[in-house]
Amino acid sequence: MQSLTMNDGHTIPVLGYGVFQMTSAEVAAHLPEAIAAGYRHIDTANAYFNEVAVGRVVASSPVAREDLFITSKLFPQSYPYAQCGKDIDATLERLGTDYVDLLLLHQPYGEYVSAWRAMEEAVEAGKVRSIGLSNFSAAKVHEILDVARIVPAVLQVEAHPYWNQHALKAALADTGIVFEAWYPLGHGDRTLLAEPALTGPAARYGKTAAQVVLRWHLQEGNVTFPKTLNPQHMADNLDIFDFTLTGEEVAAINALPQRPYYQVPDEPPAFVTTVMDYSRQA
Ligand SMILES: NC(=O)c1ccc[n+]([C@@H]2O[C@H](COP(=O)([O-])OP(=O)(O)OC[C@H]3O[C@@H](n4cnc5c(N)ncnc54)[C@H](OP(=O)(O)O)[C@@H]3O)[C@@H](O)[C@H]2O)c1
Repeated sequence: MQSLTMNDGHTIPVLGYGVFQMTSAEVAAHLPEAIAAGYRHIDTANAYFNEVAVGRVVASSPVAREDLFITSKLFPQSYPYAQCGKDIDATLERLGTDYVDLLLLHQPYGEYVSAWRAMEEAVEAGKVRSIGLSNFSAAKVHEILDVARIVPAVLQVEAHPYWNQHALKAALADTGIVFEAWYPLGHGDRTLLAEPALTGPAARYGKTAAQVVLRWHLQEGNVTFPKTLNPQHMADNLDIFDFTLTGEEVAAINALPQRPYYQVPDEPPAFVTTVMDYSRQA
């Protein structure tokens, strides 16, 4: 598996397995298949309510903990400084691990500046290797940069051929931040996967349109963690390292219409402010 080196010196596997909207039973059934298929990078979050299940799979995996890269994310209820350290400890406890490889602030609301200080302290305490942000605009990333002792290593945002994030990437180009793409396959959008800009190269290289999308991400420098419960898709999504899109093919993909599936609102939406009890995981 190829890796990228982040601005803090740690490496991150370019492809992972995302477990958003997976129940604990689905994690128990499919995460071992993903690890057996070769995935070494797992993307979860407090708000996915499946960290306990992820931790159980990791504990019983034949692959050693240090050979896995685990990401989790904190929701805004955890951001106040007095709360944040406790919630980082609770995250580690649910995952059954004494460190996570990457911890993100999941949403750009509330006391994210104070949370960043707690995240930096967690790095210094060895509880977290790398820290980053998710769904933050360039302006909000700069609010963190203004106070940061540790520069964010990663920014995880919606990114796919219909929302290539070129403007955000250009705005943050001097930070060395690695971009992670959520909805890397457009959340399974059939219209996207039927685009001639994708099906053309797919036919030429003997690949699927989904593999062409993931190859485009790779050539864009994006880290991805497509979610799938389908073993064939799981294998396909790893099989993107034996072909290269030409400049012309990349340009055609970059020329697709740009429209996100989700607009990050300025004010926190209801799902962000709802108080959550992460101890309730089946
Ligand atoms: N930070 C954030 O706010 C945020 C938000 C959303 C997601 N995420 C992260 O991003 C990860 C991925 O996002 P996502 O799961 O919503 O969207 P996604 O990975 O873009 O799309 C998943 C969909 O694509 C299908 N699929 C996967 N591989 C395929 C293939 N080779 N061919 C055809 N279809 C394929 C899957 O169906 P099958 O099961 O049938 O393969 C599923 O319906 C999440 O699991 C999570 O880790 C983060």
